[in-house]
Amino acid sequence: FPVERIRNFSIIAHIDHGKSTLADRLLEMTGAIAKTEKNKQVLDKLQVERERGITVKAQTASLFYSHQGQQYLLNLIDTPGHVDFSYEVSRSISACQGVLLIVDANQGIQAQTVANFYLAFEAQLTIIPVINKIDLKNADPDRVEAQIEKVFDIPREECIRISAKLGTNVERVLQEVVNRIPPPEVSTDDPFKALVFDSTFDHYRGVVANIALFGGQVKKGDRIVSAHLGKAYEVNELGLLRPDERPTDRLYAGQVGYMVAGMKDVKEAQIGDTLYLQQQPVEALPGFKPAKPMVFAGMYPMDQSEYTGLRSAIERLTLNDSSVTVQRDSSLALGAGWRLGFLGLLHMEVFNQRLEQEYNASVIVTAPTVPYKAVLSSAKLIKNRRGVQKNMVYIDDHRVMMKYLFPLNEIVVDFYDLLKSMSSGYASFDYENAGYQAADLIKMDILLNGRSVEELTTIVHRERAYSAGKAMCEKLKDSIPRQMFEIAVQAAIGSKIIARETIKAYRKNVLAKCYGGDITRKMKLLKKQAEGKKKMRRIGNVDVPKDAFINVLKRK
Ligand code: GTP
Repeated sequence: FPVERIRNFSIIAHIDHGKSTLADRLLEMTGAIAKTEKNKQVLDKLQVERERGITVKAQTASLFYSHQGQQYLLNLIDTPGHVDFSYEVSRSISACQGVLLIVDANQGIQAQTVANFYLAFEAQLTIIPVINKIDLKNADPDRVEAQIEKVFDIPREECIRISAKLGTNVERVLQEVVNRIPPPEVSTDDPFKALVFDSTFDHYRGVVANIALFGGQVKKGDRIVSAHLGKAYEVNELGLLRPDERPTDRLYAGQVGYMVAGMKDVKEAQIGDTLYLQQQPVEALPGFKPAKPMVFAGMYPMDQSEYTGLRSAIERLTLNDSSVTVQRDSSLALGAGWRLGFLGLLHMEVFNQRLEQEYNASVIVTAPTVPYKAVLSSAKLIKNRRGVQKNMVYIDDHRVMMKYLFPLNEIVVDFYDLLKSMSSGYASFDYENAGYQAADLIKMDILLNGRSVEELTTIVHRERAYSAGKAMCEKLKDSIPRQMFEIAVQAAIGSKIIARETIKAYRKNVLAKCYGGDITRKMKLLKKQAEGKKKMRRIGNVDVPKDAFINVLKRK
């Protein structure tokens, strides 16, 4: 296929602005899929994606489109919409020359519209603004065009108004993709060079890598090398994605397709990596960085007998997602388990949901934490404010965009939910990593009758220590049953106690009511207590039920 008639583009949007719906329309109009209800959002393959209505993994389709008597090959590279996956978005985008930036005609510009715009802008791509949902009663495309002009400096005349749902004006989108987006600047005469922008795992064939060819050509049987690991493979299968796989013998510069080459683990075909021919080494494409987890959580089987089952489920799921890190971990309270690292909170939830849905696993997930770098010196004494305002821009009369610098642990648990509820759902939120910052953090211990409970030790900000310590003591007090003696539940920083709750002793001996009663009843009661004890962990002289740890450690 002549390179001049190839267009590589992505659709980027804030969540729910209609990216998948538009993609479906484009696929239907180019005949890639039949127009039936069943095909709704074909690009969203995973069950979680369908349920949550969000795109988690990038999917791709090659479309053939006739325009003014010429046939064009349009490669639509679908990108995940959520901030957690912005690295995947930026890699997918680097395989494109242009993007369709979708904005909801009612909601206007939102946080991820801005974040995605900058990813495309920095990659110097052609940006075609598309105002979607003009069929909505409250649609106000004039206002949205004014926002686009003000915030992105794109003339309002360049906006295309569509309804992806009804198909209104969608043909025009295809025409503008051909007219405005340039073909890739590549040549089949150059040595073979391809970007891996996505990869999935298939039980029979191993890794299926989605690649964009930046030069040359590749055919079945070629020996290729992945630049990141320096490992060589033989190409077993190649093809186009329409969006289902259509095997071909060769792929050429400018094309986008899939490749199977005997890779056994998605870590061998990481997003952003470069592939080249073994006999013709080339310089790797710039910007590759392995995905870096930012949110960590413990995962434990509900019952230790389920350990092996859960382990193989986690192994199989991570085969498909190279961005999850797994480390074995064990907790005195929860037994043997793992510490998993995720790109963000949504990523973690999706992973957990897939474990439950696809592998029928029941897991205890502990409250997420974020990475810290500890420097053991007194220079941390410097006071630090937790949220620092960076800038503020009025998008129009009703909307303001504010930038803050926040510690990740402050936003990781419930910040987004709080923001949404405080603004009645109007505010939207996006974040990017601003690097490590010095902060006044301290280690907080939890004590039961003076004995430290190792698994409840946490890192907190000094200013938050009192409230965090109090909350933990209260939760523990509610979950530990009364015992024969009084129990002091305390939070401590070093040797200083900062919070305390007391669990009162039983007033009566439990057996007292059995006096004079029959012996079997007494035995039953003792047996029941003994069974209860098995689910307990003894800390000093205090029996703590497993549930108590779970209640304190688990996410709400
Ligand atoms: P993510 O995959 O989560 O990023 O969402 P998305 O941007 O792909 O949004 P999606 O296509 O799933 O659309 C979100 C909702 O908006 C769905 O309920 C669609 O039916 C609806 N929608 C999409 N386009 C239109 C439109 O043109 N008009 C109206 N009225 N609704 C639309």
